Amino acid sequence: MVKKDERIDMEKLKSEPWKFGKDFLWGSATAAYQVEGYCTNNNWNLFEEEKDEKGRPRIMNAQRAGVCCDHWNRYKEDIQLMKALSLNAYRFSVEWSKIEPERGKFDEGALDHYEAVVDELKKNNIEPMITLHHFTDPIWFYRQGAFVREDSPEIFASFAERVVKRLGKKVKLWGTINEPTVYATQGYQKGRFPPALKDPEKAGIVLKNLFRAHTAAYQTIKRVEPTAQVGLVAAILHYEPARRWHPLDVMQARALNRGLNESHFKYLVDGVFDFSIPDARKIYYDSGVKQAFDFVGLNYYTRFYHKFTFRKDEAVPETSKVPPEKLSDMMWEIYPEGLYRALRMIAGYTSKPVYITENGIADDSDTKRAAFIEEHLRVLNRAIADGVNVKGYFYWSLLDNFEWAFGFEKRFGLYSIDFRTQSRTLRAGSRKYPEIIQQNRV
Ligand code: FCB
Repeated sequence: MVKKDERIDMEKLKSEPWKFGKDFLWGSATAAYQVEGYCTNNNWNLFEEEKDEKGRPRIMNAQRAGVCCDHWNRYKEDIQLMKALSLNAYRFSVEWSKIEPERGKFDEGALDHYEAVVDELKKNNIEPMITLHHFTDPIWFYRQGAFVREDSPEIFASFAERVVKRLGKKVKLWGTINEPTVYATQGYQKGRFPPALKDPEKAGIVLKNLFRAHTAAYQTIKRVEPTAQVGLVAAILHYEPARRWHPLDVMQARALNRGLNESHFKYLVDGVFDFSIPDARKIYYDSGVKQAFDFVGLNYYTRFYHKFTFRKDEAVPETSKVPPEKLSDMMWEIYPEGLYRALRMIAGYTSKPVYITENGIADDSDTKRAAFIEEHLRVLNRAIADGVNVKGYFYWSLLDNFEWAFGFEKRFGLYSIDFRTQSRTLRAGSRKYPEIIQQNRV
């Protein structure tokens, strides 16, 4: 076992035999709003038109998602792009605002579309994993208070029920909510996602309700389709004290790790949400439902260094200590060991399957992508060799796409896109991924 904080000797890892089993899922991931186009009925569409307190557009360079990658129309072509990389799985989200444009009114045409996507994937031997909520809310739900509402879990579960009734016979893997901590903190504490609030109290309530929504959806899905495999998708970002010697930095990092990382697994395993981050009221909630999950989805990208601050909305991450060759275009440190640490944290709570539902790099120059892929898969391989029950890996992302408040500037795609022509081109660095997949199939 690699110890916490121990730097992994990458050269040594590179000589270890591959351990990925024959049934391992090798995938890529996207989210509806970020690729489909034509998402005109959700809260992000409203957000695109807004400005912040200083009069700056909410989205970098005032960009709009618009037609986006036109994945809605080009999904067949995009599935061939997956095949060309030897992928056998695809994680994508369904857009709630297209399926339920008004409360209780469902658009069968939208469901037909997603069923056609699923059929096309299966025809190409690609296993679908569907995310039911990936950050966007229909305008009607948003205007009614979204996940601040006490009854939001039931509202979300009734949407989930409709989708699973339609697709549940064809789709085995379901993610309920993508990154509840990111949705709650970016939207309600840091003001970077809609509704752009800086209210840590509300962020805590929203996070609690997202966890409750997970449980409600889990129970509903299992009632409709008992063989479905249902998981929550957690973002794990390690929080480090900016100054290791400073007790307040250390205390804050600990609180953030507890509140925003460990909280997922404590809730999933025990049904208990015991939430306290600095500056927010402590919330204690016991759902009374333990083990409401079949797998854990892990999104892993980086770690942040935090300096203690009295400001409620910001605990500013510090990347200044990180050398530029170790930074992605997001200014996120490339830190493969963190994937191992996250998996160990999860293994401390459960031995149920884990899927790496997102991991990838924004790297427009494409100089770091190949090494990023290799190093993270090497670390993952080690975790599997150490007995962690990992069943799949989904690279973020298949295509360059609309990176939330960063607009189109951040290039995460295995394939680059020329957004004027919609032409897709494989990046040279991405070839590392199918190369490793092939090595594991011999
Ligand atoms: C995650 C999101 C995903 C994408 C990546 C870069 O937090 O789930 O949609 O934006 O970050």
